[in-house]
Amino acid sequence: MGRAKKAVLAYSGGVDTSVCIPYLKQEWGVEEVITFAADLGQGDELEAIRQKALDSGASQSIVGDLIEPFITEFAFPAIRANALYEGRYPLSTALARPLIARRLVEIAREVGADAVAHGCTGKGNDQVRFDVAIGALAPDLKVLTPAREWGMSREQTIAYGERCGIPSPVSKKSPYSIDLNLLGRSIEAGPLEDPNVEPPEEIYAMTVSVEAAPDQAQSVEIGFEQGNPVSIDGLRLDPVSLIRQANALAGSHGFGRLDMVENRVVGIKSREIYETPGLLLLIKAHQELESLTLAADVLRTKRQLEQQWADLVYQGLWYGPLKDALDGFMDRTQQTVNGTVRLKLHKGNATVVGRSSASHSLFVHDMATYGAEDQFDHKAAEGFIYVWGLPTRLWAANQRRRP
Ligand code: ARG
Repeated sequence: MGRAKKAVLAYSGGVDTSVCIPYLKQEWGVEEVITFAADLGQGDELEAIRQKALDSGASQSIVGDLIEPFITEFAFPAIRANALYEGRYPLSTALARPLIARRLVEIAREVGADAVAHGCTGKGNDQVRFDVAIGALAPDLKVLTPAREWGMSREQTIAYGERCGIPSPVSKKSPYSIDLNLLGRSIEAGPLEDPNVEPPEEIYAMTVSVEAAPDQAQSVEIGFEQGNPVSIDGLRLDPVSLIRQANALAGSHGFGRLDMVENRVVGIKSREIYETPGLLLLIKAHQELESLTLAADVLRTKRQLEQQWADLVYQGLWYGPLKDALDGFMDRTQQTVNGTVRLKLHKGNATVVGRSSASHSLFVHDMATYGAEDQFDHKAAEGFIYVWGLPTRLWAANQRRRP
């Protein structure tokens, strides 16, 4: 790989990505490093981060607000797909990566860079997501991954930074590695590396503990149009406000924590703690509305394809052909997913207590009822069961005849 002249670096403001700046210049001969820090609603002090990149040697430091596309183009499709990796993790970190990659590539074009760079290590999923996305969007750009190659320990990284004028972390460094955005927080490392150790309460920021949650239950009604959440308790909200509101509501009742051992793309099992209160609440409500509005065979097939969708997003294949094809299926199914779902939040739980769809409910009362209005033809069941059970009776008779 030839030398890069100008690189756009995905920048978080942490020590590792800061050290990437002088490292790229001094060790790899990159002439100019331009940083990009994405605002995904994580609540960081972005002006300080912008300045820190310049202090660390960036020739230009860009901060970009990606919150709106993050929610509408990445979180909402995940809700429509009820995406839960390994049946549990709603992909709050994974969903951000293809968007950051897309913006990195756009900036590289704007500034005439010949490379993009990121500070991911060689053990995680995020390197896969960035590299695959960039390769799909801009095969001509070099992808520089210093932290994957430099082989420095944390102490060595800090020392390298100090030699380049990058201050070492001031406060007593938290032992945790945390990735956060508007959808949630992913927490790993430190004491959590023992999967048998209970997560300490201090790691949580978006959810209260079950003990601290109010004794009083709270009802919440989520409205959906074509599979997208559009209102809470009858109040229409723009997508970003809706996610914020869902986070606040669910989090205040201790709903949305997840403690799991998951299988990374690179083959490692890792223990992860997540808190994604709003996203989990909305997926739960959305699943419920589909049970009312999707035909049985569509629903069953969709449940299988949802797993595929979650797998490929986790595995970094957002810009691949299967994702493209599955989106066609998902979008077609969502045309009828209109209505509301009511849930009760209480002490870490969100329990569905009602669902309705004025326009698309496939629940037909005269068919379901045991009352006098029953319209179902009970006599028709006999002929149906004769045909339905025929293969089973023939097979069983054959089994009996044989010794
Ligand atoms: N394991 C999760 C994922 O692959 C989250 C990783 C987040 N990174 C972190 N430093 N906590 O999507």
